[in-house]
Amino acid sequence: MTRAIAITRTTAPKTKPDPNDLGFGRFFSDHQGQMEWTAEGGWGPPRVVPYGPIPLDPAAGVLHYGQAMFEGLKAFRQPNGSVKLFRPEAHVQRMIVGAPRLCMPSPPADTMLELLKAFVQTDLDWVPSAPMTSLYVRPTLIATDAFLGVRPANKYLFFVIGSPVGAYYSGGLRPVRIWVERSQTRAAKGGLGAVKAGANYVASLYAANKAKKEGYDQVLWLDSVKHETIEEVGTMNLFVVFGDELVTPPLSDSILAGVTRDSIMALGQDLGLKVSERPITVQELVDGEKSGRLKEVFGSGSAAVVSPVGELAFGDNKIVTSKGESGPVCQSLYDAITQIQRGTRPDKHGWMMPV
Ligand SMILES: Cc1ncc(COP(=O)(O)O)c(C=O)c1O
Repeated sequence: MTRAIAITRTTAPKTKPDPNDLGFGRFFSDHQGQMEWTAEGGWGPPRVVPYGPIPLDPAAGVLHYGQAMFEGLKAFRQPNGSVKLFRPEAHVQRMIVGAPRLCMPSPPADTMLELLKAFVQTDLDWVPSAPMTSLYVRPTLIATDAFLGVRPANKYLFFVIGSPVGAYYSGGLRPVRIWVERSQTRAAKGGLGAVKAGANYVASLYAANKAKKEGYDQVLWLDSVKHETIEEVGTMNLFVVFGDELVTPPLSDSILAGVTRDSIMALGQDLGLKVSERPITVQELVDGEKSGRLKEVFGSGSAAVVSPVGELAFGDNKIVTSKGESGPVCQSLYDAITQIQRGTRPDKHGWMMPV
């Protein structure tokens, strides 16, 4: 059952940033959505309040034992000026499925959706309208219980904030250079990789920083046991075009079930491609480059939609794809998704939700 959402508007609205210089995650809108859970009372009433710091006890579980997870989705301005969210139900569902793995309570789907919509409605004028911009929406769930001792907390806070973000690619898709990481792992078999847990991101920082220092944009993550099978690229799912087949690794407990990944598989089929989920090894990429079967490699995620990979490096070896440029499959999928998001292509899968 949907619960009424109390809205307290800010009395000190912020000055909006320059829509041509938004970048990613630098500015925050005027409000936030919140909802608390306690062991005694379950989920309390959802509310929208002015954006601001969250009071947190220094003993709060999130600060010590890392009980924290989040989501990331976008709200887009439509040609008629209205605003729609891209696949909010899928993001809400991923949080519901992931929370129990971190021993956290799942917020009810309908209340989460209503709170997301109420938050975006309250900050509607923070959804930018310049081409390729959007409001990035960040639902987050943290343990707030003040208790030192390793056990699941008895108090949690669900909150949602928003950040107007700029065009990821202003001058067309830009291929990235990738370091194939053969010693560190992002997520292990039996671990948290399938959950959007904060812990997975801190686990990835060291190798990502090292790769950046060496002149690469992102890391290609391999399986944690043999470091042979491909899992994800940076904070994205991975796709490879072999001949006329679009391939992505099958979901497992070390791979996040990307909403963009799912959208790309559906649109790939719409475009008449053969779409497969099967393991891909680094050796298959090496062999594919030699034989000419390897056509394109790209990552997929909410922030960039797709990110073409121009080069993959490991040790002294490197694989160059699409002559280091963005390939046609990646481009068609990017066009299809972004046009649906902006309301310039029919939304035949029913992915866009008005706020
Ligand atoms: C580790 C990881 N994999 C994949 C993705 C792509 O997921 P989505 O397409 O739902 O944004 C993300 C980004 O959210 C991520 O952080």
